[in-house]
Amino acid sequence: MRKWILTWILPSLLYGPYFHVLFLMGTLSLACNDMTPEQMAVNVNCSSPERHTRSYDYMEGGDIRIRKLFCRTQWYLWIGKQGNVKGTQDANSSYSVMEIRTVSVGIVAIKGVHSEYFLAMNKSGKLYGKKSCNEDCNFKELIQENRYNTYASAKWTNNGKDMFVAITSKGSALKGKKSKKEHKASHFLPVPTS
Ligand SMILES: *[C@@H]1O[C@H](CO)[C@@H](O)[C@H](O)[C@H]1NC(C)=O
Ligand SMILES: *[C@@H]1O[C@H](CO)[C@@H](O)[C@H](O)[C@H]1NC(C)=O
Ligand SMILES: *[C@@H]1O[C@H](CO)[C@@H](O)[C@H](O)[C@H]1NC(C)=O
Repeated sequence: MRKWILTWILPSLLYGPYFHVLFLMGTLSLACNDMTPEQMAVNVNCSSPERHTRSYDYMEGGDIRIRKLFCRTQWYLWIGKQGNVKGTQDANSSYSVMEIRTVSVGIVAIKGVHSEYFLAMNKSGKLYGKKSCNEDCNFKELIQENRYNTYASAKWTNNGKDMFVAITSKGSALKGKKSKKEHKASHFLPVPTS
């Protein structure tokens, strides 16, 4: 009698949750494609495997914001497929969605979510994209009096003067050596992505 009940009940007990799990998995994998980057950053299973590798561990635990960096010259910071850095005026470009991660007090790393290149500045002040993060990718984030943020290389200076991330009024990346804190080109508003 008991056996009968069990064999009758078990499949339906198993089938129920199993079906549910399958259904959940289906919606999850669909959801990953539909998710906003902000949601993707939160949902660990949708993130890139890179995030779980050892070399990335030192960056773990920091505060993460998903933002577009809108320059006061009216361009969004953009990191392309090949890691090239410039501005775009296309407000919908997924290549301007950045993951801004706090790596230590006042220091951030900025990564193009779509291109998977980090924003980097070399010793000469040249902005470029870097696949694996090193000191070139660390920037001092400061809120200026006008409420715009500036991002200066945390590693390199030009004879002691800060070199800033800057997008010219023509939409190209300015060399850090030519940048100034007061320039519009160095002023960015981090805007949430919808
Ligand atoms: C991600 O997957 C692991 C197993 O691979 C699971 O334990 C965990 O609950 C999942 N997390 C989310 C947010 O789905
Ligand atoms: C950008 O996206 C918005 C909302 O998704 C849409 O209304 C608008 O037409 C898009 N603009 C362009 C240039 O694709
Ligand atoms: C910085 O990058 C530019 C462009 O790629 C290159 O010409 C220059 O030599 C680099 N400078 C240093 C110090 O690596």
